Amino acid sequence: MKTVGVLGTGTMGAGIIQVLAQSGYNVVLRARRQTSVDRGIATVEKNLDKLIKKEKITEADKADIMARVHGSTDITIIKDADLVIEAATENMEAKKALFQELDELCKPEAIIATNTSALSITEIAAATNRPDKIIGMHFFNPVPAMKLVEIVKGLTTSDETRETILALTEKLGKTPVDVAEAPGFVVNRILIPMINEGIGILADGVADAKGIDTAMQLGANHPMGPLALGDLVGLDVCLAIMETLYNEFGDTKYRPHPLLRKMVRANKLGRKTGEGFYDYSK
Ligand code: 3HC
Repeated sequence: MKTVGVLGTGTMGAGIIQVLAQSGYNVVLRARRQTSVDRGIATVEKNLDKLIKKEKITEADKADIMARVHGSTDITIIKDADLVIEAATENMEAKKALFQELDELCKPEAIIATNTSALSITEIAAATNRPDKIIGMHFFNPVPAMKLVEIVKGLTTSDETRETILALTEKLGKTPVDVAEAPGFVVNRILIPMINEGIGILADGVADAKGIDTAMQLGANHPMGPLALGDLVGLDVCLAIMETLYNEFGDTKYRPHPLLRKMVRANKLGRKTGEGFYDYSK
């Protein structure tokens, strides 16, 4: 496997591009708008600059890494990729349409993975003519720092596809964990309801945001508290995952808190919009 296509240059897409290019893969990335292509490449460059400052890589390493990254708004840029990782949209209908397009464009032997955080791999696979080569590769934010990748086998994913992706994940310096297809897989089924609960505690006035986060950092040894983590993940993403858990299980324990809905309606999505439970505008 030499060339990997990445669709999407948001928080996750840019992290995935960086990790692949740093591990020696050629990366062809595609976003719908040129500004998104430029933003994705700029994010990778900014992160590499931080590594230069920390003396973990040199300017020459950065030049080598960036020479392996090519971006376009034209989806045909991915047509020769051995693997495509989709990190573009969390909407099932949009994903199915995109996977149909990828299926037509990609080499027959290419594997197409999705970074979906909660949607059904089996349903996405069924929209293509290569259901054995569709798999979930669920990375965590911030991608360069987080060691885990959940490897999600749909009902039709072949063992060969799974083994290829497990080996690739290890080459990226990550630890793969096999998970069966299920809403939220392992991490998000535990983590996102915890964030939702933190929001409920805030709404009840039990403690303020800083107090809740400090309590969980010092009382549970979490690297960051649930509200700061919600801001990092994106409150729109948290809401979408809660909706999936709630709809799929039909259990009220997964009901999104009304304050989470309100935050999303107000476009207070966390770091990416400059404000969530904390202010990031400065
Ligand atoms: N991009 C790249 N690397 C980053 C980074 C970023 N945005 N933020 C931190 N890092 C790296 C640093 O470079 C550093 O690497 P080094 O040890 O090799 O130098 C390392 O992470 C630690 O960073 P810092 O010392 O600056 O900061 P902290 O020690 O405070 O750690 C953190 C920051 C890694 C974000 C830590 O607070 C953490 O682990 N938080 C929890 C994150 C988490 O739970 N993520 C999962 C979210 S759920 C998800 O993503 C699933 C999705 O489907 C919703």
